[in-house]
Amino acid sequence: MMTSVPVEAAVSSGDCPVTVGAGAGGVSMQAKDLALGFGSATVLSGLDLEVGKGQLTALIGPTGSGKTTFLRSLNRMNDKVAKHWHRGDVLLNGASIYAPGVQLMALRRRVGMVFQRPNPFPMSIAGNILAGVKAHRIAGKEHYRDIVEARLREVGLWDAVRNRLSSSPFSLSGGQQQLLCLARALAVGPEVLLLDEPTSSLDPVTAGNIEEMARALVPALTVVIVTHNLAQARRISDQTVFFYQGKMVERGETAQLFEDPQQPETARYVTGRMG
Ligand SMILES: Nc1ncnc2c1ncn2[C@@H]1O[C@H](COP(=O)(O)OP(=O)(O)O)[C@@H](O)[C@H]1O
Ligand SMILES: [Mg+2]
Repeated sequence: MMTSVPVEAAVSSGDCPVTVGAGAGGVSMQAKDLALGFGSATVLSGLDLEVGKGQLTALIGPTGSGKTTFLRSLNRMNDKVAKHWHRGDVLLNGASIYAPGVQLMALRRRVGMVFQRPNPFPMSIAGNILAGVKAHRIAGKEHYRDIVEARLREVGLWDAVRNRLSSSPFSLSGGQQQLLCLARALAVGPEVLLLDEPTSSLDPVTAGNIEEMARALVPALTVVIVTHNLAQARRISDQTVFFYQGKMVERGETAQLFEDPQQPETARYVTGRMG
């Protein structure tokens, strides 16, 4: 098995994602004894964690437990934060994302992200969908119109924006902006999608839509979602991971983790007795 192929080599070997190591139902991403911090602050430590391929994994835990920092470690978004450091490793399909030669842009194409607050780019609505398509040269100009329509339809935004594709996204509602960001993330064809509390600032209807879409993305994609909403984690995830004080306390099948937690901290959290 070619378990040591760097991510970049896997990416540059063609349009078809090269799956190294695990097949469907295997491991998509893996943290190996990961510790991570900023300057003198250690935020995560001793993390050994596998993310199942084609599954939806929910990360839960109190505020400040390290969920966002961990999520951002999966596509090296922490790298640009001042005084960032890490020990241990993170693997994507068995290959280190920290291997020499891994290009961050190629990595982030494979491991996409939607943030807690919608962050459309300051360009037109269509431009947002096409930004990654152009940067990665995914398709020629003649396909742009079709791509914009298909991606906006996919997230249910087409009818609302079809007559203002060249307008600013900042005229859209917060929920619509988040749907646009989801469409933008999907437009480059990621293997893994990271969602950091994507529905926390949205109205319940849009939140429900995004929740359903996240569920519909698996098993074609691997999805990791941070959520404060325990009911949401229970509804949509296959696996749930409980973080507490920068450590993974417990990971399990979602029903098992909620109904029969193995650790006292998990039990306190899922029964609402901890922040
Ligand atoms: N750039 C940084 N410098 C120092 N500490 C940080 C930085 N980013 C996050 N932290 C700390 O890491 C801890 C975990 O934060 P975070 O990952 O955002 O938690 P969560 O998403 O679970 O609420 C917090 O104590 C936070 O203050
Ligand atoms: Mg967070």
